[in-house]
Amino acid sequence: MLGAGNVTSAVDPGTPYGHYAPHYDAQGQSRWGESLIDFTLGTLLPRYGRRPRTALDLACGTGSAALLLARAGLATVGLDRSATMLALARAKARAAGVAHAPLNFVRADLRRFAFARPFDLVTCCYDSLNYLLDPADLVSALAAIRQSLSSGGLFVADLTTGRAYDADGDAAAWSLELGDVEYGFSTTWDPSTRIAETVITCATHTVAGARTVHEHHRQRAYEHDEVEEALVASGLRSLGAFAALPLRGPSLEPPGPRTRRLIYVAETAGPRGSRHG
Ligand SMILES: C[S@@+](CC[C@H](N)C(=O)[O-])C[C@H]1O[C@@H](n2cnc3c(N)ncnc32)[C@H](O)[C@@H]1O
Repeated sequence: MLGAGNVTSAVDPGTPYGHYAPHYDAQGQSRWGESLIDFTLGTLLPRYGRRPRTALDLACGTGSAALLLARAGLATVGLDRSATMLALARAKARAAGVAHAPLNFVRADLRRFAFARPFDLVTCCYDSLNYLLDPADLVSALAAIRQSLSSGGLFVADLTTGRAYDADGDAAAWSLELGDVEYGFSTTWDPSTRIAETVITCATHTVAGARTVHEHHRQRAYEHDEVEEALVASGLRSLGAFAALPLRGPSLEPPGPRTRRLIYVAETAGPRGSRHG
């Protein structure tokens, strides 16, 4: 049980992923992003007839998705605002020794970023866009994405809807023990603001005692019509919206009223051939 035994508690409201970063991969949190990249490379790119040579993975976290893109031969940049997540991503890339294509990581805010050259593929995995609490920030991020997308380039992202939280009522909690670390996740959901707050608790037990840290993660649920509107407002054209299926992951099935996770595929609006339409 969390908090039990010889525990000294260092409570820190903390920047998201400041403390949780080293536990992220150990908990298998990178798996969804990896499955979306596999789906993108194996299903979406052939479906839309695209052969990208460069990729930008936004909110790249510990770099697992970026690593897959580089391994597939795409010159890849991973972008994230968390210095701790980026440090892990860089270490992972070094350890993997990716030789197939260049892989670099940059620290930036996905609401406002710009690159000198556009990318053929821009991805944003594992409900990272839900960290944008204000719909205006979602439009800003999508507008920056549009500016970073080459003509004929593809944007792929997933976002969670309110259904991800509705099922559990206004509060949900679970815990997990991995090695000498106990994790607690406690989520409160406010349907009126559409904002879910998850407090992640990591209690590490060592011979010297125990250390407990808390991190607050706030995400806003977005519904299908809101995302479609934001895509249009930012100059992107939606090519497809799909449902991620429980247990099966990414699919080509259309979203329905019970869809918890939406997958979007978009390109720059306007005629193909002109960079910004
Ligand atoms: C759920 S993790 C997803 C990480 C990775 N995409 C994956 O699939 O494992 C969310 C990531 O979004 C990043 N993030 C949240 N808000 C951001 C922002 N405004 N700008 C850049 N990165 C952001 C966090 O630092 C974190 O690494």
